[in-house]
Parts: sequence; C-alpha cells; structure tokens
Amino acid sequence: MQFNDRVAIVTGASRGIGRSIAEYLAARGAAVVAVSRNSADTAALVQQIEADGGKAMSVQADVAVAADVDAMIAAVQERFGRVDILVNNAGITRDNLLARMKEDDWDTVLDVNLKGAFLCTRAVARIMSKQRYGRIVNISSVVGQMGNAGQANYCASKSALGGLTRSNARELARRNVTVNAVAPGFIETDMTAGLAEKVRNEMLGQIPLGRFGTVDDVAAAVAFLASEQAGYITGHELSVNGGMYM
Ligand code: NAI
Repeated sequence: MQFNDRVAIVTGASRGIGRSIAEYLAARGAAVVAVSRNSADTAALVQQIEADGGKAMSVQADVAVAADVDAMIAAVQERFGRVDILVNNAGITRDNLLARMKEDDWDTVLDVNLKGAFLCTRAVARIMSKQRYGRIVNISSVVGQMGNAGQANYCASKSALGGLTRSNARELARRNVTVNAVAPGFIETDMTAGLAEKVRNEMLGQIPLGRFGTVDDVAAAVAFLASEQAGYITGHELSVNGGMYM
C-alpha cells in the first residue's frame, strides 16, 4: 500500500491508536495532518515524520466543536489543497454504571465520539466529492457490537458510528468516496492501561487468538481501508479483535 500524494487527516493523533495510524500512513508516503486538542501533543510526531523525510502538519481542534473542525479543514486546504483520507479516531470514555452515569458524561462521550465524526465527515465530504476521491474510516469498537456493562454512553456512541458509516457510505458512493469502520477489540493503549489485572485476565480468556491487540494491528487495517486497493469496499465494519466477537 502506498499513499504518495495523498493527504490524510487523523483525529486524536497525539497517542495510542491515532498516533500509530498517522505513523503508518506517513511511512507509506501520505502527508499527515495530526489533529489533537493541544498541538503541543503532536509536535514530536510531526517532527519525527519530517525527520524521516515525510510531510506532516499539526492542527489544534476539538472535534466536538464545529468552528474548530471548520478552521482545521481550512488550514489543511491552505497547506495541502486537498483531503484524500479522513480517520475519525478521536474518542473518550466516561464509564459508570447506568444508575450512576451523569447526564454530562453521556453528552460528552456522544459529542466527541459521534458528533465529532459527523462534523469532520461533513467538513471533508464537499472536498472529497469535488475531487471524486475519498476514503473515510471511522474507529468504532467491539463493545459497540457486543455491549458492555458500565459503558452505556461509550457503546451507544460506537454502535451509532455504524449507522453513520453506512448512511454516509450510501450518500457519498456516487462521488467515489468510500466510508468504512474499523472495530478494534482490546488494544494495549492508555485507554486500557488502567484496567485491573483481574479484568485484563478475564478479557484475555475471551480472545481466541490469545493476546491483546497492538496499535499496529489497528493501523494496518485502517491503512487497507484507506488505500486505493480498497476502492470496492464501502459501508463495512472490519473487526480487529483477535476473534473476541464474531
Ligand atoms: P487514547 O485515549 O490513547 O487516545 C485518544 C486520542 O483522542 C487522544 O489523542 C486524545 O487527545 C484524542 N481526543 C480525545 N478527545 C478529543 C477531542 N474532543 N478532540 C480531538 N482529539 C481528542 O485512546 P486509544 O486507545 O488510542 O483509542 C483511539 C480510538 O480507538 C478511540 O476512538 C477509541 O474509542 C477506539 N478504541 C480503542 C480501543 C482500545 O482497546 N484501546 C478498543 C476499541 C476502540
């Protein structure tokens, strides 16, 4: 897979899965736009990509704020003049059992995980439609497919990304813009680092491949769906979960 002359926006690129996706695409020729709430968090990533001979820029934006997203896209257009790939990766958790879940925890998670993907997709859709080329990949989750106690807000947001993916796939198909999702299982990142040993071992017991996923496992799947070679795949949710849910 090569991404020479392609411009890829990756949201939540400061660490974890988003950072790995940004590195993976940059290493294969893409100019990468690393989006984060604080551009200082992606400065090292951009430096590293440039030091390796690649192209990258860092843009500060909260994906849940429409004005931030529109300004981010305008900055990308000014620097690179096109957008070929959007990876809606930014995501958060605010876990609690249903009875204890605060309304604010519901709203915040839905705003970032779902509305953020809507706002970014809306902003790039016009550009990609005009170009007659685009690849959009949403990062959902295995728990959006299975459900998970204590994560009603998170699971609802990730499940709804499936509906967003399929609707946008139908709407943008005529313009040669594909829209797919990658649903990771349990991946070793900051988001999962805090789990108790007992919970981790219980999870491991549910994974047929017998290991947790790595950020590179997810990045490779995203890169495939973002490649030219995946041009006849749209509206699909690709599981990267070691067989945890099938
Ligand atoms: P992480 O917490 O390590 O990284 C999330 C990134 O999103 C960070 O860079 C953070 O700054 C950014 N972000 C959060 N809110 C933002 C906002 N409003 N605007 C812009 N950026 C924002 O998480 P991780 O594990 O790398 O997860 C990445 C994606 O993968 C998320 O969507 C997550 O839900 C999903 N995922 C992760 C799994 C895992 O096991 N780690 C499993 C399934 C899905």
